[in-house]
Amino acid sequence: MSAVPHPELERWRAEFPILGTHTYLNSCSLGALSNRSMGYLGEYQRLWNTMGASAWYELWVGRIAELRGRVAKLWNARDVEIGLTPSVSAALSSISSAIDYTRRNRVVVADLDFPTLVYQWLAKPGVEVVRVPSDDGIGIPAERWAEYIDERTALVATSHVFYSTGYVQDLKPIADAAHAAGALFLVDGYQAAGQIPVDPRASGADVYVGGPLKWLLGGPGLAFLWVKEERIRELRPTIASWFGARDQFSFRVDELEFRDDAGRFSMGTPAMPTVYTALGGLEIFAEAGEAKVFERIAALREELLGLIADAGFEVKGAADAAHRSGIIMVRHHDAAGAVRKLAERGIVVDFRGSYVRASPHFYNTPDESRAFVEALRAV
Ligand SMILES: Cc1ncc(COP(=O)(O)O)c(C=O)c1O
Repeated sequence: MSAVPHPELERWRAEFPILGTHTYLNSCSLGALSNRSMGYLGEYQRLWNTMGASAWYELWVGRIAELRGRVAKLWNARDVEIGLTPSVSAALSSISSAIDYTRRNRVVVADLDFPTLVYQWLAKPGVEVVRVPSDDGIGIPAERWAEYIDERTALVATSHVFYSTGYVQDLKPIADAAHAAGALFLVDGYQAAGQIPVDPRASGADVYVGGPLKWLLGGPGLAFLWVKEERIRELRPTIASWFGARDQFSFRVDELEFRDDAGRFSMGTPAMPTVYTALGGLEIFAEAGEAKVFERIAALREELLGLIADAGFEVKGAADAAHRSGIIMVRHHDAAGAVRKLAERGIVVDFRGSYVRASPHFYNTPDESRAFVEALRAV
């Protein structure tokens, strides 16, 4: 018998057609598409087709506000703290443009961070990027960060969950070390939001970035940016868009006044199809119950880890369950080949280097975990 809780969540499987045709274990790359989101895409097309530009003013602006509100609720935040950008990279670019590097020119990141996070500062002339190394290639003990942060540090920027190991960082001690040195703290939560609890303010962040693509089941084309309300006015971007201007529809070109909320970091017209698909994903989250979703992902993960160990495979991941998430890395001598062969059997996973990467979401089942491990043995 499986100990995975909330079997009632399995009724949501019918909402995701791909689950009827595939063993889908790759939500950390791209969450499954729901009927709800497809229905919303239909609404988007219908409105475009029947209303044209008036859909913008009469309805779509409201949908954008609704999306910000839903993200705010999910992250225990205020609507004014939420901005929408076309990607995590764009959100990071806008924030990185708003920081003064003249007195402090260092940005501290982790060796294990996703490249786009590090690239923001490698791209900036005069900024020195300091990388905190990982001894085991899996994670970094939170207390280690303080050794790399000092009065030269403008910003500490790192991931909530490392994309290639699933390691969950303890954010508060890192935030405390950054703030004690007078630096800002930015968190890339793309691999966290939707699979573990996220509360940017409680975690001590000044900036937190995530998006709908992966665990939040909303597809590509947008990212969600949270900026602590008390910090928003201090951060004046040096890249801009008319969506970030205070009085957007005054069309003034003699001056630029930024909005007072996190909308100041916007980068142009938002992708409406994604506003709609993201709303679908967030509604499903709210209805399924976030806490249940997180519990189920953790239980599926632990059960899958047990099956993998029993099958004799080696896993790269945190020894301590408190640092584990739903990203599971299984060592394989031909990870790319194994992923290809699994795909031929209808099992969708991914690979990074010499590891097969599986990421069960709340809609997966213990049977699917068993099917994956059996197939991995067979290939
Ligand atoms: C942790 C993390 N940050 C950032 C990104 C990339 O974000 P974007 O393509 O929206 O810039 C990814 C993509 O996989 C990621 O896993």
